Amino acid sequence: MAQASVTRRYRFCAAHRLHTDHLSPEENLAAFGKCNNPNGHGHNYVVLVTVKSTVPTTTGKGVDLDRLDQIVGQQVITRFDHHDLNQDPEFADRTTTGENLVLLIWDLLVKCLPTGQLEKVGLIETRDNYFEYAGSMSQAPVLREGRHG
Ligand code: NI
Repeated sequence: MAQASVTRRYRFCAAHRLHTDHLSPEENLAAFGKCNNPNGHGHNYVVLVTVKSTVPTTTGKGVDLDRLDQIVGQQVITRFDHHDLNQDPEFADRTTTGENLVLLIWDLLVKCLPTGQLEKVGLIETRDNYFEYAGSMSQAPVLREGRHG
C-alpha cells in the first residue's frame, strides 16, 4: 500500500537563556553572544511535525490528525508554552539551543507514535533559524528491512 506524509504546524511561546555552568561567564558570552543575556529572552516557536502512514484505499485518509494534535498538545505544547525552557528538568544539564530542543521534542513524540510513523520534527526559532531532526539511521525501518532483504 502506498505511503504518504503529512506535516502539521504547532506553535508555542517560551523563554530561555543560552548558558552553561561548564563555561566561564566570558566563555558563555563568547559562545552565545546576546542569547547569554542574564535576563533571558523569548521566542514564538513553530513546530513542524511530519508523520508518515499508509494511505487506505477506502478513505484515502492516513494519519489521524485529531490524535496527533492530542499527542503534540500533551507532550510538547502544554509542557513548553509560556514556560522558561531553562527550568525544564530535561534541560538541567544541557543548553536550550534549537538543536537540543528539536531533539527533545523528537524524543517526546517518538515514544507516543508507532515506530516509523514519526518522520521528521522541524523547529522554527526565529525568522532565520530553523532546526530539524529525523531520528538516527538505526531507527529507520526501511533501512533495517533493506539489510536483511
Ligand atoms: Ni533565543
